[in-house]
Amino acid sequence: MITRAYRHSLNGSHLAPGQPLMEVSDVSLRFGGITALAGVGFTVTQGHIHAVIGPNGAGKSSLLNCISGLYRPQEGQVTLYTKNGPAELVGMRPHRIARLGVARSFQNIELFRHLTVLENLMLGRHVHMRHRLLASLAWFGPARREEIAHRVLVEEVIDLLQIQSVRHQPVGSLAYGFQKRVELGRALCMQPALLLLDEPMAGMNTEEKEDMARFVLDVHELAGVTVVLIEHDMNVVMDISDRVSVLDFGELIADGTPAEVSANPDVVRAYLGEELSA
Ligand SMILES: Nc1ncnc2c1ncn2[C@@H]1O[C@H](COP(=O)(O)OP(=O)(O)OP(=O)(O)O)[C@@H](O)[C@H]1O
Ligand SMILES: [Mg+2]
Repeated sequence: MITRAYRHSLNGSHLAPGQPLMEVSDVSLRFGGITALAGVGFTVTQGHIHAVIGPNGAGKSSLLNCISGLYRPQEGQVTLYTKNGPAELVGMRPHRIARLGVARSFQNIELFRHLTVLENLMLGRHVHMRHRLLASLAWFGPARREEIAHRVLVEEVIDLLQIQSVRHQPVGSLAYGFQKRVELGRALCMQPALLLLDEPMAGMNTEEKEDMARFVLDVHELAGVTVVLIEHDMNVVMDISDRVSVLDFGELIADGTPAEVSANPDVVRAYLGEELSA
């Protein structure tokens, strides 16, 4: 169970639900002749699950990369409303953006396969650690007290994601569904204000997808984390999102509630096709 301590130290907790947490404006990103994003703009509201959908190659992952600092768009702004005021993320390095409270998971799992679940999750705490990471992993000297505080929080995340049974196993030995859960866990251990999830349910069977959707909802409800979710499964998107932005060939073609977006003829034409019009 996520405790009050977790919630109160959240970076986004200074904002009331309904206030803007992040504004993406006029973001354009090109790779040589390829336009990955063309003037994309939308607002992510505090307390929302905000889905980003679109066909393969539409620019969804590129958009997350622009937010988390891995890509630098040629044009546009990404403004995060932190407790110290608005921060411009474009041009900032990824670790600084992480420190401001933006955590992410990757489309292809990026965990340390030879380290255990617990060790991978502790690495998610590094943005909050004052003592050197290696010292704290090895339980040395002055880092020990700090380590214990971090361990309490990590154990909460382990409970929430129901991965107690595998906590001492190397991540590489786990089933795919568990690895995806650990990726979510590592991001969650950062106590983010904004959680960016790039297809957390990709490659899962229906049961695993339902579990993952439940975890995302729990994280959102219990920990109060705002989520930007890239997902291909329309049933999941329509079920759990408050707001949906639709990309097609790098352009934002729709932005609204799930009901508005699924009734938008451009969206039906570009992406949903027979699935929703049937
Ligand atoms: N590092 C890169 N170098 C060159 N082109 C890139 C790079 N990253 C993305 N692209 C191009 O940008 C476009 C958008 O890709 P992106 O991965 O953002 O799409 P996506 O919506 O996440 O697709 P998918 O649903 O397949 O994950 C594609 O044409 C892709 O080839
Ligand atoms: Mg992608």
